[in-house]
Amino acid sequence: MAIGSRAVSYANPACVKSVVVRSQSVPQWRALSSQSIAHQQQQKNLTKTKKQKSSKCSNHSSTAAAQIHLLLSQFRQASATPLHRLRQLADAMTAEMHSGLMSEGGSEQLKMLPTYVENLPHGDEEGLFYAVDLGGTNFRVLRVQLGGKEKRIVKQEYQEVAIPPELMQGTSKELFDFIAKKLASFVAREGEGFEAHSGHVRELGFAFSFPVLQTSVKSGILVHWTKGFKISDAIGKDIVAAFEEAIGRKGDHIRVAALVNDTVGTLAGGRYWNEDTMLSVILGTGTNACYIEQVDAVPKWRGAPPKSGEVIINMEWGNFRSPYLPRTFADEEVDIDSVNPGDQWFEKMISGMYLGEIVRCVLAKFAQEAALFGGPIISPKLLEPFSLGTPYVSKIHSDESADLTEVARILKDVFEIRRTTFQERKIVHDICDIIAERGARLAAAGIVGILNKIGRDHGPTATNGSYLSSRRSKTVVAMDGGLYEHYTQYQVYMRAAIDEMLSETAAQSVVIELSKDGSGIGTALLAASHSQYHTF
Ligand code: BGC
Repeated sequence: MAIGSRAVSYANPACVKSVVVRSQSVPQWRALSSQSIAHQQQQKNLTKTKKQKSSKCSNHSSTAAAQIHLLLSQFRQASATPLHRLRQLADAMTAEMHSGLMSEGGSEQLKMLPTYVENLPHGDEEGLFYAVDLGGTNFRVLRVQLGGKEKRIVKQEYQEVAIPPELMQGTSKELFDFIAKKLASFVAREGEGFEAHSGHVRELGFAFSFPVLQTSVKSGILVHWTKGFKISDAIGKDIVAAFEEAIGRKGDHIRVAALVNDTVGTLAGGRYWNEDTMLSVILGTGTNACYIEQVDAVPKWRGAPPKSGEVIINMEWGNFRSPYLPRTFADEEVDIDSVNPGDQWFEKMISGMYLGEIVRCVLAKFAQEAALFGGPIISPKLLEPFSLGTPYVSKIHSDESADLTEVARILKDVFEIRRTTFQERKIVHDICDIIAERGARLAAAGIVGILNKIGRDHGPTATNGSYLSSRRSKTVVAMDGGLYEHYTQYQVYMRAAIDEMLSETAAQSVVIELSKDGSGIGTALLAASHSQYHTF
């Protein structure tokens, strides 16, 4: 019997696991024949080669693991948002707001669009009003019966409709005809509990959540599309005219009383319940913010100043850009492959449309460069753009099971990666954490930038005139959007970053109020407060 060891090799020759079977021991002193010496030598060599192979293999896997950890720590570093960085970003946001308010088209980054919304709802609005909320992959139609100060919102109903993807890149007629058709059938189902004023044409608020240069409260020109929409013939056109023509083609009698951005709808919805609401933020498919500004602080304002002395500014903050933004290779990839390369950097780093795609790009790089998930063959699904939606990122992130079973399930269902090690799942979890935390902290920096601009970043004890003159102890941020609503850890990170950036008193004075579907209701409320029959 051969002296030494025998290695049993498994299917993958490049990664042989050695099982050593010891032969019976041979007395050292036994005389050996030259044949047996040669045989021994041969066996020794064989063993050596197999040992080398096996150690090469474990070297290989430990090299791959080391490589993955290196990539991960580089990525973590590149995505970092330490406090000083957040402060720089908040200051840069404030500075951009100032320059965006100076000239007609805004700054190169922030359009800072005045909205012409003069009457924020107060609670005394009455009657039946509709809203259409278009801004993502779904749109909503809703109706609200308002009962004045006492009864407030008596009844509401809505319907959510998915927009067929081909309509997002077709013609404006196709898109508006589709919306008008859905609106018509919704209006036709108006039933008990809803009562239109006899002799009044039905009125609706239109939340159109893209950058629009408003020319009045019910007209505005589309500047460009975002969030995957690309309907070239709509750019430069009056959105309300296009929509009302489509409504007319359906033969319906309903008029647009107010054209607003979803942030403005959310602000109005927030104000309806809480007068301390000064700004609103959307963190959904896309992202944006609007706030109440003193008209004197808007050099580009034309015409008579509003009676209130205040204007609502739609910032279009999704296009914010700054050298302080911690951009990584993944952000560049996402941007280059988008329908609007070079635009909306901030949005592409923090909003729901893109977080999943950023995670996917990072995983694909780790798989390609460091054999994450075993390699060398990479699942085609992992290379498919937008195969990982942000809701999955949130689910991965919230997996607290000991062996990350939910992460394993998602990797299997979404990317068809059937077997993963715990280490790999942990890395996927960490990547989601890094990307979500960065997004949430950047959103927080944006909010602090606005607080800074309106003098509400120091809390009620500040000597800043505008804060004290308003005699308010709270600043409410009305928040809407599925990303914020459903991604709890994102909320936690965002709040923590706001608290980190502000003094304790200031932080306590800032209240974030989630107004679920605030934009839809708020838009209907704005139709009421801008109604042609408005008498209150
Ligand atoms: C649009 C904004 C909108 C935001 C949130 C962005 O892509 O440009 O107008 O408010 O998404 O829906």
